[in-house]
Order: sequence, then C-alpha cells, then structure tokens
Amino acid sequence: MKKIIALAVVSLSAVVSFNASAESQIDAGKAAATKYNCASCHGADFQTPIDPGYPKLAGQHKDYLKHALVAYKRGNEASNGRSNAIMGPLAKQLSGKEIENIAAYLHSLPTTLVLRK
Ligand code: HEC
Repeated sequence: MKKIIALAVVSLSAVVSFNASAESQIDAGKAAATKYNCASCHGADFQTPIDPGYPKLAGQHKDYLKHALVAYKRGNEASNGRSNAIMGPLAKQLSGKEIENIAAYLHSLPTTLVLRK
C-alpha cells in the first residue's frame, strides 16, 4: 500500500512539473514573440495577419512551426531550407531554444485553423 501511495505521489509530481515546464515554455515563447515583434505582421492574436498573404500561426502544429522557423534559419544554402526576404533574417536571430518556446506559445493560442476533421 505504501508503495502504491509513493508511486502515486511520484507520478503526480511528474505530471505537475511537466505542466509547469510546459507553461514556462509558453510564457518564454510569448516573451520572445514580443521581443521580436512577430505580431506586427502576423496579428496581435496571430490569426489576423496584416496582409492576407501572410500566414496565420495561432494553433498551428508545434512541430510544423519549429520546422518552418528552422528552415528559414537554414536559408537556401542548405537542403530543406526556406528562402524568404522577411522571415530569413528574422529567423536567423532566433536561438534553437527560442524557436522551441515560440512554437509552444503559438500552438497554445486559440485558433480558427482546422486541426482535425
Ligand atoms: C515584417 C513582417 C513579419 C514579421 C515581423 C514576422 N513575420 Fe513570420 N512571416 C511573414 C511572411 C510574409 C511569411 C510568409 C513567408 C513565405 O512565404 O515563406 C511568414 C511566415 C512565417 C512562418 C511560416 C508559417 C507557415 O505556415 O509556413 C512562421 C512560423 C513565422 N512566420 C513565424 C514568425 C515569428 C515567430 C516571428 C517573430 C520572430 C515572425 N514570423 C515575424 C512576415 C513576418
């Protein structure tokens, strides 16, 4: 019985600390998005961009956002890179950690994107 309770406490604290770290990642991502002024083009809620040709980011899959930002960072020189006059120079300023955090933050936002049908 003691073992079961100890196990329950351990797994509960693992869940709590996981949530805490997910939250702090989102907070850090929000701070980074503010620092780099990402909303100035992608919209304050990240789903009403200033130009209809600019992508909506709110609620987008985390992995996809991360992949896109890393691809802009790589640029045209590398395979599987993206070249863009706006996003290229911006993404090159981001650290790997900032990309992770920003992706978590954008993914956490309310969205009009259809993620599942
Ligand atoms: C000056 C305007 C501008 C700013 C500031 C800006 N973006 Fe972008 N962003 C764009 C445009 C335009 C595109 C589409 C580029 C293309 O066609 O590849 C884009 C594309 C993206 C994409 C790819 C989305 C997709 O669906 O493939 C991501 C992710 C992204 N931006 C994140 C960010 C983040 C994070 C920041 C802040 C660090 C930021 N953007 C700041 C204009 C901007």
